[in-house]
Amino acid sequence: TPLADAGTVLGTDPARVSTERTATPRHYLMCPPVHFDVVYAINPWMDVSVPVDAGLAVVQWQALKAAYEARGHTVDVIRPEPGLPDMVYAANGGVVVGGRALAARFTFPERQPEGAAYEAWLRTSGAQHGVVSLGQAAERNEGEGDLLWDGEVMLAGTGFRTTREAHAEVAALLDVDVVTLELVDPRFYHLDTALAVLTTAADGVRPEVAYFPGAFTPESLAVLRERYPDAIEATEGDAAVLGLNAVSDGRHVFLTERATGMHAALRERGYEPVGIDLSELFKGGGSVKCCTLELRPAASAPTVEVT
Ligand code: ARG
Repeated sequence: TPLADAGTVLGTDPARVSTERTATPRHYLMCPPVHFDVVYAINPWMDVSVPVDAGLAVVQWQALKAAYEARGHTVDVIRPEPGLPDMVYAANGGVVVGGRALAARFTFPERQPEGAAYEAWLRTSGAQHGVVSLGQAAERNEGEGDLLWDGEVMLAGTGFRTTREAHAEVAALLDVDVVTLELVDPRFYHLDTALAVLTTAADGVRPEVAYFPGAFTPESLAVLRERYPDAIEATEGDAAVLGLNAVSDGRHVFLTERATGMHAALRERGYEPVGIDLSELFKGGGSVKCCTLELRPAASAPTVEVT
């Protein structure tokens, strides 16, 4: 069921006069940053000498959660574990498509215990949230950090964290087609720092994305331009404030308030940008999408199976 407000009809560009954006209710999993800190550096954004205000991080995180809920979305919360300062970045904990779930297997030892925490949640709480199977990953993958579902295919990042071997495993365990995209800039170490899915494919609706071209190899850029000829190509400035680390419900796009160029580009296409301030979590190298794991239930009645 679409949410209450109808889409905007744009009058300026004749090619887009009929553009109407419809939000669909989403189900998210988030983890409050009560134990958030920067005590190790595993990406170029992290600087252990810069102090972190975990209290402020929690307040900012609550505002993001409230922004989702105010627009009709459901947010589930996983219990944060002491000693896992990056657990707030729930997107990395796993990926769920059509009720099939996979927990992460993290690159760095500092984050590896998070995999078990998210796996336990998917196993115990997952069933109430449309998870019908939990695949056992052997390869290194960082969940929705690198695995973005566009409604037709799984866009899969590699180069820094998730491996190519994991892409094949994801295809098999989640029963999806995978499109491999290679990342080249260490600032954009996860696919979700370089690309955002704005509209997921549905009956008669083409998927739409935004991305920063400079984050990809020439070959992967060619793949993106071919698949998404109408994509928003973000500027380096917007990418460098993690403006592509965004969550969309098809109409509202939740992203850092600092990505002003992205806000304008989104508005021009009929989306409604919702500016969020996550300045504390930015110190860990993450923003809106990093904090948000989407739970996509099975379309039909669940039967529990283990693959
Ligand atoms: N400090 C975390 C790391 O480097 C940040 C993860 C951000 N999450 C994301 N989905 N990009 O692993």
